[in-house]
Amino acid sequence: MIIAIDGPAASGKGTLARRLARHFGLHHLDTGLTYRAVAAALLARGLPLGDEEIAISAACNLDLSRLDRDVLSAHEIGEAASRIAVLQGLRDELVRLQREFAGREPGAVLDGRDIGTVVCPDAPVKLYVTASPEVRARRRTDELLSKEKPADYASILADLKKRDERDSSRSVAPLKPAEDAHLLDTSEMDIEAAFKAAVDIVEQAR
Ligand code: C5P
Repeated sequence: MIIAIDGPAASGKGTLARRLARHFGLHHLDTGLTYRAVAAALLARGLPLGDEEIAISAACNLDLSRLDRDVLSAHEIGEAASRIAVLQGLRDELVRLQREFAGREPGAVLDGRDIGTVVCPDAPVKLYVTASPEVRARRRTDELLSKEKPADYASILADLKKRDERDSSRSVAPLKPAEDAHLLDTSEMDIEAAFKAAVDIVEQAR
């Protein structure tokens, strides 16, 4: 059983993926963290973000069991991740690790940008989770404020739009719904309603 979940930044796909994995007893991989971990390793060592060989060697040392969103959540890391995500050789290596993870028994939920289109094109259930940029920026702002971190709605909105644009317009594995993905627009839904809608979609597909 593989559930592929894609969508733009702060669409709520991560929360949904975690909850679906728990509900159906599956493993979960937030693939954004694989790009973030490579970016963080390069930033920490002051290495260039555009060098494919260096990025690939950082990817080869990744331990998927040690990825932690709290450690990798910084804004600069997300930006750097989106920059290195255009390197085809790096993507090939990360996709290889992600597919290995997807093959674990009894199955897995993977969330990211290209799961339904590239990583697991044969997944029996694909969801494309989205929400308007304004709603996503509001959620991200509230999330940061609830953790007592600084958050400015206007700059968060501008950054989200910039990152969406970069992720959707790149030539390699651009962010887009797979043809057979179920669209889930959560602009008007809270997390409980979104979760229920997602469970219904998965149940129907099984
Ligand atoms: O999901 P998250 O914001 O952590 O992802 C960080 C960046 O990693 C994204 O903006 C995107 O450029 C890249 N990414 C990707 N493919 C994935 C997951 C993330 O290109 N499957």
